[in-house]
Amino acid sequence: MISFTLIVLIAVILGLIWKLLDLRSELREQVQENDELRKRGSDFVANVSHELKTPLTSIKGYTETLKGMISKDPEKAREFLTKIEENSERLSSLINDILDLSKIESPNIHLEVEKFSVQPLLDEIRDQFVHRLSQRQQRLVINSEVEELAADRKLVDQALSNLIENAHRYCPEGALIEVVATKTSEAGHSYSLFEVIDNGPGISQGDLPRIFERFYRADKSRNRLSGGTGLGLAIVKHIMVSHGGLVRASSEKGRGSRFSLFFPS
Ligand SMILES: Nc1ncnc2c1ncn2[C@@H]1O[C@H](COP(=O)(O)OP(=O)(O)OP(=O)(O)O)[C@@H](O)[C@H]1O
Ligand SMILES: [Mg+2]
Repeated sequence: MISFTLIVLIAVILGLIWKLLDLRSELREQVQENDELRKRGSDFVANVSHELKTPLTSIKGYTETLKGMISKDPEKAREFLTKIEENSERLSSLINDILDLSKIESPNIHLEVEKFSVQPLLDEIRDQFVHRLSQRQQRLVINSEVEELAADRKLVDQALSNLIENAHRYCPEGALIEVVATKTSEAGHSYSLFEVIDNGPGISQGDLPRIFERFYRADKSRNRLSGGTGLGLAIVKHIMVSHGGLVRASSEKGRGSRFSLFFPS
């Protein structure tokens, strides 16, 4: 049984390495543009390498040790398999995030813009989260006065889901998470404004300007344990930029956070 699981895991790891090779060629294309882009690209490669090496080293270490202990200590072997599984999941979600980000950052990105009804999308998002939120007694309250939006529906879903995921992850049990959609205007431009507001721990003024950077985590030790890779908000930012919109975050440490997505309308 355990050796079957091992074979499956090795197949998963090979799949991940295949994805990585894909990613490397995408990155190479990205790094060609100009000096500034090249600099950003190499920082990105350094960060990616660092982030990928940690779970890969764990997987390698646990697999090696497992080989020698499968028949001797099945209990310990099961524990190590769980570690391998957790690290594979971490790698897999990291790779998916990196691929999403490189797609959305690409200058040739093609948005599937369509006019869609907002309420059904918000209902789908609620359904997606309801179970996980209830496990931590967190409440999600959604209020929308925006009926229709012209945008890439999948990307709007992804941006809102990333923000709700963060609120869920970083707020304690019993927190209140609100999604509010309104029409607004600023400096002569009209926007459909989607906000995700929570009453959790908030983000310090020092961290706030940096949270949209790739791989930036406000509280590194806590986030490593809870599995964040620091790419979610970078993806949200690029989704907004690709729509000609903008994203803002405001927060007071200890008093919750507010993320505002402005879609031009
Ligand atoms: N609602 C929130 N409340 C408190 N801190 C937050 C909130 N949202 C984001 N943060 C902080 O901002 C950091 C960056 O968030 P981001 O979504 O980019 O990365 P992540 O959640 O760590 O990883 P990923 O989204 O890639 O799994 C988080 O690590 C967290 O410290
Ligand atoms: Mg996140």
